[in-house]
Amino acid sequence: MTHRRHVLQLAAALALGAAMLPAAQAQSEPIKIGVILPMTGQQASTGKQIEGGIKLWQQQTGGKIGGRKVEVIIKDDGTVPDQTRRLAQELVVNDKVVALAGFGITPSALATAPIATQSKTPMVVMAAATSAITEASPFVTRTSFTLPQAAVAIAEWAPKNGIKKVVTLVADYGPGNDAEKFFADRFKLNGGQVLEQLRTPLRSPDFAPVLQKVRDTKPDALFVFLPSGQGAQFMKQFAERGLDKAGIRLIATGDVTDDDQLADMGDVALGVVNSHHYSAAHPSPANKKFVAEFEALNKFRPNFMAVGGYDGMRLIAKGLEQTKGAGGQALMDAMKGQTFESPRGNILIDAQTRDIVQDMYIRKVEKKDGQLWNIEFDVIKQMKDPGKSK
Ligand code: DHB
Repeated sequence: MTHRRHVLQLAAALALGAAMLPAAQAQSEPIKIGVILPMTGQQASTGKQIEGGIKLWQQQTGGKIGGRKVEVIIKDDGTVPDQTRRLAQELVVNDKVVALAGFGITPSALATAPIATQSKTPMVVMAAATSAITEASPFVTRTSFTLPQAAVAIAEWAPKNGIKKVVTLVADYGPGNDAEKFFADRFKLNGGQVLEQLRTPLRSPDFAPVLQKVRDTKPDALFVFLPSGQGAQFMKQFAERGLDKAGIRLIATGDVTDDDQLADMGDVALGVVNSHHYSAAHPSPANKKFVAEFEALNKFRPNFMAVGGYDGMRLIAKGLEQTKGAGGQALMDAMKGQTFESPRGNILIDAQTRDIVQDMYIRKVEKKDGQLWNIEFDVIKQMKDPGKSK
Protein backbone atom coordinates (compact mmCIF):
# COMPACT_ATOMS: atom_id res chain seq x y z
CA MET A 1 0.00 0.00 0.00
CA THR A 2 1.32 3.44 -0.84
CA HIS A 3 1.96 5.82 2.01
CA ARG A 4 -0.70 8.28 0.81
CA ARG A 5 -3.42 5.68 0.41
CA HIS A 6 -2.59 4.33 3.81
CA VAL A 7 -3.01 7.80 5.35
CA LEU A 8 -6.34 8.38 3.60
CA GLN A 9 -7.72 5.01 4.70
CA LEU A 10 -6.70 5.70 8.25
CA ALA A 11 -8.35 9.15 8.19
CA ALA A 12 -11.56 7.76 6.68
CA ALA A 13 -11.78 4.95 9.22
CA LEU A 14 -11.33 7.41 12.09
CA ALA A 15 -13.97 9.85 10.80
CA LEU A 16 -16.49 7.01 10.38
CA GLY A 17 -15.80 5.66 13.86
CA ALA A 18 -16.37 9.04 15.51
CA ALA A 19 -19.57 9.69 13.55
CA MET A 20 -21.14 6.35 14.48
CA LEU A 21 -20.76 6.73 18.24
CA PRO A 22 -23.63 8.70 19.91
CA ALA A 23 -22.44 10.97 22.74
CA ALA A 24 -24.35 9.22 25.56
CA GLN A 25 -23.09 5.80 24.54
CA ALA A 26 -19.57 7.21 24.23
CA GLN A 27 -19.70 8.35 27.88
CA SER A 28 -20.73 4.95 29.24
CA GLU A 29 -18.14 3.04 27.23
CA PRO A 30 -14.70 2.42 28.71
CA ILE A 31 -11.85 4.69 27.72
CA LYS A 32 -9.36 2.57 25.81
CA ILE A 33 -5.60 2.93 26.03
CA GLY A 34 -3.40 0.85 23.70
CA VAL A 35 -0.07 -0.25 25.12
CA ILE A 36 2.47 -1.90 22.80
CA LEU A 37 5.33 -3.68 24.55
CA PRO A 38 8.01 -6.29 23.89
CA MET A 39 6.45 -9.12 25.95
CA THR A 40 8.55 -11.65 24.00
CA GLY A 41 11.90 -11.40 22.21
CA GLN A 42 15.15 -9.88 23.37
CA GLN A 43 13.63 -7.00 25.36
CA ALA A 44 10.90 -9.06 27.10
CA SER A 45 12.02 -7.92 30.57
CA THR A 46 11.04 -4.37 29.56
CA GLY A 47 7.51 -5.52 28.74
CA LYS A 48 7.22 -7.49 31.97
CA GLN A 49 8.35 -4.50 34.06
CA ILE A 50 6.09 -1.96 32.35
CA GLU A 51 3.10 -4.30 32.56
CA GLY A 52 3.84 -4.62 36.29
CA GLY A 53 3.77 -0.82 36.66
CA ILE A 54 0.48 -0.58 34.74
CA LYS A 55 -1.08 -3.31 36.92
CA LEU A 56 -0.10 -1.38 40.04
CA TRP A 57 -1.70 1.78 38.65
CA GLN A 58 -4.87 -0.23 37.96
CA GLN A 59 -4.88 -1.70 41.47
CA GLN A 60 -4.41 1.70 43.13
CA THR A 61 -7.03 3.54 41.06
CA GLY A 62 -9.55 0.75 40.43
CA GLY A 63 -8.68 1.24 36.76
CA LYS A 64 -10.89 4.34 36.59
CA ILE A 65 -10.44 7.92 35.47
CA GLY A 66 -13.06 10.43 36.69
CA GLY A 67 -15.44 7.56 37.50
CA ARG A 68 -15.11 6.09 34.01
CA LYS A 69 -13.64 2.65 33.43
CA VAL A 70 -10.33 2.44 31.60
CA GLU A 71 -9.55 -0.55 29.42
CA VAL A 72 -5.82 -1.04 28.91
CA ILE A 73 -5.18 -3.18 25.83
CA ILE A 74 -1.67 -4.65 25.94
CA LYS A 75 -0.18 -5.94 22.67
CA ASP A 76 3.11 -7.82 22.24
CA ASP A 77 5.31 -6.54 19.40
CA GLY A 78 7.96 -9.23 19.99
CA THR A 79 10.64 -6.49 19.92
CA VAL A 80 9.97 -6.06 16.15
CA PRO A 81 9.39 -2.41 15.03
CA ASP A 82 7.22 -3.33 11.99
CA GLN A 83 4.92 -5.17 14.39
CA THR A 84 4.78 -2.15 16.71
CA ARG A 85 3.63 0.01 13.82
CA ARG A 86 1.04 -2.52 12.60
CA LEU A 87 -0.38 -2.98 16.10
CA ALA A 88 -0.56 0.80 16.60
CA GLN A 89 -2.59 1.15 13.44
CA GLU A 90 -5.01 -1.59 14.56
CA LEU A 91 -5.39 -0.07 18.01
CA VAL A 92 -6.20 3.34 16.51
CA VAL A 93 -8.52 2.18 13.72
CA ASN A 94 -10.27 -0.86 15.24
CA ASP A 95 -10.12 -0.28 18.98
CA LYS A 96 -10.30 3.53 18.81
CA VAL A 97 -7.86 4.02 21.66
CA VAL A 98 -7.48 7.59 22.99
CA ALA A 99 -3.74 7.10 23.50
CA LEU A 100 -0.92 4.80 22.48
CA ALA A 101 1.76 3.94 25.04
CA GLY A 102 4.67 1.59 25.76
CA PHE A 103 7.50 1.36 23.14
CA GLY A 104 10.33 -0.78 24.46
CA ILE A 105 13.03 0.25 22.00
CA THR A 106 13.77 3.36 19.96
CA PRO A 107 13.10 1.76 16.53
CA SER A 108 9.58 0.76 17.72
CA ALA A 109 8.82 4.31 18.88
CA LEU A 110 10.15 5.86 15.66
CA ALA A 111 8.19 3.41 13.50
CA THR A 112 4.95 4.42 15.26
CA ALA A 113 5.37 8.20 15.38
CA PRO A 114 3.85 8.75 11.88
CA ILE A 115 0.68 6.92 13.00
CA ALA A 116 0.41 9.26 16.00
CA THR A 117 0.76 12.28 13.71
CA GLN A 118 -1.70 11.08 11.05
CA SER A 119 -4.40 10.04 13.52
CA LYS A 120 -3.69 12.81 16.08
CA THR A 121 -3.35 10.14 18.77
CA PRO A 122 -1.13 11.01 21.75
CA MET A 123 1.76 8.58 22.12
CA VAL A 124 3.37 8.18 25.55
CA VAL A 125 6.85 6.66 25.37
CA MET A 126 7.39 4.66 28.58
CA ALA A 127 10.78 3.03 27.79
CA ALA A 128 12.65 4.15 24.66
CA ALA A 129 15.22 6.86 25.35
CA THR A 130 16.82 8.33 22.21
CA SER A 131 16.53 12.10 22.43
CA ALA A 132 15.06 12.60 18.95
CA ILE A 133 11.94 10.44 19.51
CA THR A 134 9.93 13.39 20.86
CA GLU A 135 10.81 15.33 17.70
CA ALA A 136 9.42 12.61 15.42
CA SER A 137 5.80 13.76 16.02
CA PRO A 138 4.04 16.61 17.86
CA PHE A 139 1.92 13.87 19.47
CA VAL A 140 4.81 12.21 21.32
CA THR A 141 5.57 12.68 25.00
CA ARG A 142 7.77 10.60 27.33
CA THR A 143 7.91 9.25 30.89
CA SER A 144 11.21 7.35 30.64
CA PHE A 145 14.40 9.40 30.26
CA THR A 146 16.91 10.37 27.59
CA LEU A 147 20.41 8.98 27.11
CA PRO A 148 21.86 12.53 26.92
CA GLN A 149 20.47 13.13 30.46
CA ALA A 150 22.19 10.02 31.85
CA ALA A 151 25.44 10.35 29.85
CA VAL A 152 26.01 14.02 30.72
CA ALA A 153 25.44 13.30 34.42
CA ILE A 154 28.19 10.64 34.61
CA ALA A 155 30.51 12.72 32.36
CA GLU A 156 30.27 15.48 34.99
CA TRP A 157 31.11 13.11 37.84
CA ALA A 158 33.97 11.07 36.31
CA PRO A 159 36.69 13.73 35.69
CA LYS A 160 36.26 15.08 39.23
CA ASN A 161 36.90 11.60 40.58
CA GLY A 162 40.24 10.59 39.11
CA ILE A 163 39.02 9.36 35.73
CA LYS A 164 40.89 11.17 32.94
CA LYS A 165 41.15 8.60 30.14
CA VAL A 166 38.24 6.45 29.02
CA VAL A 167 37.13 4.02 26.37
CA THR A 168 33.40 4.10 25.55
CA LEU A 169 31.29 1.06 24.68
CA VAL A 170 27.69 1.42 23.49
CA ALA A 171 24.97 -0.58 21.75
CA ASP A 172 25.09 0.38 18.08
CA TYR A 173 21.74 2.17 17.55
CA GLY A 174 19.89 5.37 18.53
CA PRO A 175 20.33 5.50 22.31
CA GLY A 176 23.92 4.21 21.99
CA ASN A 177 24.75 7.00 19.54
CA ASP A 178 23.32 9.54 21.99
CA ALA A 179 25.19 8.04 24.95
CA GLU A 180 28.51 7.95 23.08
CA LYS A 181 28.26 11.51 21.76
CA PHE A 182 26.90 13.22 24.87
CA PHE A 183 29.31 11.40 27.19
CA ALA A 184 32.36 12.18 25.01
CA ASP A 185 31.47 15.84 24.40
CA ARG A 186 30.94 16.62 28.09
CA PHE A 187 33.87 14.49 29.28
CA LYS A 188 36.26 16.28 26.90
CA LEU A 189 34.84 19.67 27.88
CA ASN A 190 35.72 18.73 31.46
CA GLY A 191 39.34 17.94 30.50
CA GLY A 192 39.01 14.20 29.92
CA GLN A 193 40.37 12.16 27.02
CA VAL A 194 38.45 9.53 25.01
CA LEU A 195 40.94 6.88 23.80
CA GLU A 196 38.58 4.73 21.79
CA GLN A 197 34.87 4.38 20.95
CA LEU A 198 33.57 0.81 20.63
CA ARG A 199 30.15 -0.54 19.70
CA THR A 200 28.29 -3.84 19.91
CA PRO A 201 25.16 -4.79 17.92
CA LEU A 202 21.73 -4.42 19.54
CA ARG A 203 20.86 -8.05 18.72
CA SER A 204 22.82 -10.86 20.40
CA PRO A 205 26.02 -8.95 21.21
CA ASP A 206 29.31 -10.73 21.99
CA PHE A 207 31.32 -8.64 24.42
CA ALA A 208 34.52 -10.72 24.41
CA PRO A 209 36.34 -9.04 21.47
CA VAL A 210 35.59 -5.46 22.58
CA LEU A 211 36.56 -6.23 26.18
CA GLN A 212 39.90 -7.59 24.95
CA LYS A 213 40.44 -4.31 23.12
CA VAL A 214 39.63 -2.34 26.27
CA ARG A 215 42.15 -4.42 28.22
CA ASP A 216 44.86 -3.64 25.70
CA THR A 217 44.04 0.10 25.63
CA LYS A 218 44.31 0.38 29.45
CA PRO A 219 42.04 3.36 30.13
CA ASP A 220 41.32 4.64 33.67
CA ALA A 221 37.73 3.57 33.07
CA LEU A 222 35.33 2.03 30.58
CA PHE A 223 32.06 3.94 30.06
CA VAL A 224 29.16 1.67 29.01
CA PHE A 225 25.59 2.01 27.75
CA LEU A 226 23.66 -1.16 26.90
CA PRO A 227 19.87 -1.52 26.78
CA SER A 228 18.02 -3.02 29.73
CA GLY A 229 18.51 -6.79 29.85
CA GLN A 230 22.13 -6.96 28.62
CA GLY A 231 23.82 -5.80 31.84
CA ALA A 232 24.19 -9.17 33.59
CA GLN A 233 25.86 -10.87 30.62
CA PHE A 234 28.17 -7.91 30.15
CA MET A 235 29.23 -7.83 33.82
CA LYS A 236 29.96 -11.56 33.74
CA GLN A 237 32.29 -11.16 30.76
CA PHE A 238 33.89 -8.02 32.24
CA ALA A 239 34.90 -10.13 35.26
CA GLU A 240 35.86 -13.22 33.22
CA ARG A 241 38.24 -11.14 31.09
CA GLY A 242 39.82 -9.80 34.27
CA LEU A 243 39.24 -6.12 33.54
CA ASP A 244 38.35 -5.35 37.14
CA LYS A 245 41.58 -7.00 38.30
CA ALA A 246 43.53 -5.04 35.66
CA GLY A 247 42.48 -1.85 37.47
CA ILE A 248 40.06 -0.63 34.79
CA ARG A 249 37.10 1.01 36.49
CA LEU A 250 33.61 0.65 35.12
CA ILE A 251 31.23 3.59 34.80
CA ALA A 252 27.87 3.32 33.10
CA THR A 253 24.37 4.54 32.62
CA GLY A 254 21.98 2.83 35.04
CA ASP A 255 20.64 0.63 32.24
CA VAL A 256 23.68 -1.61 32.83
CA THR A 257 23.19 -1.96 36.62
CA ASP A 258 19.47 -2.48 36.01
CA ASP A 259 17.39 -3.31 39.11
CA ASP A 260 15.75 -6.12 37.12
CA GLN A 261 19.06 -8.04 37.00
CA LEU A 262 21.21 -6.40 39.68
CA ALA A 263 20.42 -8.89 42.42
CA ASP A 264 21.82 -11.72 40.24
CA MET A 265 24.97 -9.95 39.00
CA GLY A 266 27.16 -10.91 41.92
CA ASP A 267 30.01 -9.02 43.51
CA VAL A 268 31.56 -7.93 40.18
CA ALA A 269 28.93 -5.15 40.16
CA LEU A 270 29.96 -3.85 43.60
CA GLY A 271 31.30 -0.31 43.46
CA VAL A 272 30.19 0.43 39.86
CA VAL A 273 29.32 4.13 39.69
CA ASN A 274 26.49 4.93 37.30
CA SER A 275 23.92 7.60 36.48
CA HIS A 276 20.16 7.25 36.10
CA HIS A 277 16.76 8.66 36.95
CA TYR A 278 15.46 5.77 39.04
CA SER A 279 16.73 3.37 41.69
CA ALA A 280 14.50 0.94 43.59
CA ALA A 281 16.54 2.11 46.61
CA HIS A 282 15.51 5.79 46.18
CA PRO A 283 14.90 6.79 49.81
CA SER A 284 11.61 8.72 49.52
CA PRO A 285 8.38 7.64 51.28
CA ALA A 286 6.62 7.65 47.87
CA ASN A 287 9.18 5.21 46.47
CA LYS A 288 9.13 2.94 49.52
CA LYS A 289 5.36 2.63 49.12
CA PHE A 290 5.74 2.06 45.36
CA VAL A 291 8.35 -0.69 45.75
CA ALA A 292 6.44 -2.46 48.54
CA GLU A 293 3.15 -2.47 46.63
CA PHE A 294 4.82 -3.36 43.31
CA GLU A 295 6.64 -6.33 44.85
CA ALA A 296 3.52 -7.55 46.68
CA LEU A 297 1.59 -7.51 43.38
CA ASN A 298 4.19 -8.66 40.86
CA LYS A 299 6.68 -10.70 42.96
CA PHE A 300 9.78 -9.01 41.52
CA ARG A 301 11.76 -5.82 42.09
CA PRO A 302 10.69 -2.84 39.95
CA ASN A 303 13.27 -1.24 37.68
CA PHE A 304 13.26 2.05 35.74
CA MET A 305 10.99 0.56 33.07
CA ALA A 306 8.31 -0.22 35.68
CA VAL A 307 8.39 3.40 36.84
CA GLY A 308 8.15 4.65 33.24
CA GLY A 309 4.98 2.54 32.81
CA TYR A 310 3.45 3.55 36.14
CA ASP A 311 4.12 7.26 35.60
CA GLY A 312 2.94 7.01 31.98
CA MET A 313 -0.47 5.79 33.17
CA ARG A 314 -0.61 8.59 35.73
CA LEU A 315 0.25 11.15 33.06
CA ILE A 316 -2.45 9.88 30.68
CA ALA A 317 -4.98 9.76 33.55
CA LYS A 318 -4.20 13.34 34.62
CA GLY A 319 -4.65 14.47 31.04
CA LEU A 320 -7.94 12.59 30.59
CA GLU A 321 -9.30 14.01 33.85
CA GLN A 322 -8.82 17.48 32.38
CA THR A 323 -10.30 16.64 28.97
CA LYS A 324 -13.16 14.58 30.50
CA GLY A 325 -12.12 11.58 28.46
CA ALA A 326 -11.41 13.31 25.14
CA GLY A 327 -8.25 12.34 23.25
CA GLY A 328 -6.53 13.99 20.30
CA GLN A 329 -4.98 17.44 20.50
CA ALA A 330 -6.91 18.25 23.72
CA LEU A 331 -5.30 15.31 25.54
CA MET A 332 -1.88 16.20 24.15
CA ASP A 333 -2.26 19.78 25.39
CA ALA A 334 -3.48 18.58 28.80
CA MET A 335 -0.36 16.44 29.30
CA LYS A 336 2.02 19.31 28.51
CA GLY A 337 3.27 21.00 31.67
CA GLN A 338 2.02 18.23 34.00
CA THR A 339 4.11 17.81 37.11
CA PHE A 340 3.83 15.28 39.92
CA GLU A 341 5.86 13.25 42.38
CA SER A 342 7.04 10.01 40.80
CA PRO A 343 8.74 7.21 42.77
CA ARG A 344 11.95 8.64 41.22
CA GLY A 345 11.33 12.22 42.51
CA ASN A 346 9.45 15.17 41.00
CA ILE A 347 8.96 15.11 37.24
CA LEU A 348 7.72 17.69 34.73
CA ILE A 349 6.57 17.30 31.12
CA ASP A 350 8.25 20.27 29.43
CA ALA A 351 5.43 22.09 27.59
CA GLN A 352 7.72 23.14 24.71
CA THR A 353 9.58 19.89 24.01
CA ARG A 354 6.98 17.43 25.49
CA ASP A 355 9.99 15.61 26.98
CA ILE A 356 10.58 14.76 30.62
CA VAL A 357 12.48 16.99 33.05
CA GLN A 358 13.78 15.10 36.09
CA ASP A 359 16.56 14.63 38.65
CA MET A 360 19.54 12.59 37.44
CA TYR A 361 21.28 10.68 40.22
CA ILE A 362 24.83 9.43 40.58
CA ARG A 363 24.72 6.03 42.27
CA LYS A 364 27.09 3.34 43.45
CA VAL A 365 26.29 -0.37 43.59
CA GLU A 366 26.41 -1.45 47.24
CA LYS A 367 25.30 -4.45 49.26
CA LYS A 368 22.56 -3.85 51.83
CA ASP A 369 20.93 -6.69 53.77
CA GLY A 370 22.66 -9.20 51.50
CA GLN A 371 21.34 -7.69 48.22
CA LEU A 372 22.79 -5.34 45.62
CA TRP A 373 21.25 -1.89 45.15
CA ASN A 374 22.07 1.33 43.29
CA ILE A 375 22.65 3.73 46.21
CA GLU A 376 22.23 7.39 45.22
CA PHE A 377 24.94 9.73 46.52
CA ASP A 378 24.75 12.81 44.28
CA VAL A 379 22.15 14.46 42.05
CA ILE A 380 21.75 16.95 39.21
CA LYS A 381 18.39 18.53 39.93
CA GLN A 382 15.62 18.93 37.37
CA MET A 383 17.65 18.20 34.24
CA LYS A 384 16.13 18.94 30.83
CA ASP A 385 17.12 16.73 27.91
CA PRO A 386 20.54 18.06 26.80
CA GLY A 387 19.78 16.61 23.35
CA LYS A 388 17.14 19.22 22.52
CA SER A 389 18.33 22.06 20.34
CA LYS A 390 15.40 24.25 21.42
C1 DHB B 1 16.35 1.93 24.93
C2 DHB B 1 16.09 0.65 25.37
C3 DHB B 1 16.50 0.27 26.63
O1 DHB B 1 16.27 -0.97 27.08
C4 DHB B 1 17.18 1.15 27.46
O2 DHB B 1 17.58 0.73 28.67
C5 DHB B 1 17.45 2.43 27.02
C6 DHB B 1 17.03 2.83 25.75
C7 DHB B 1 15.92 2.36 23.57
O3 DHB B 1 15.86 1.51 22.67
O4 DHB B 1 15.65 3.55 23.39
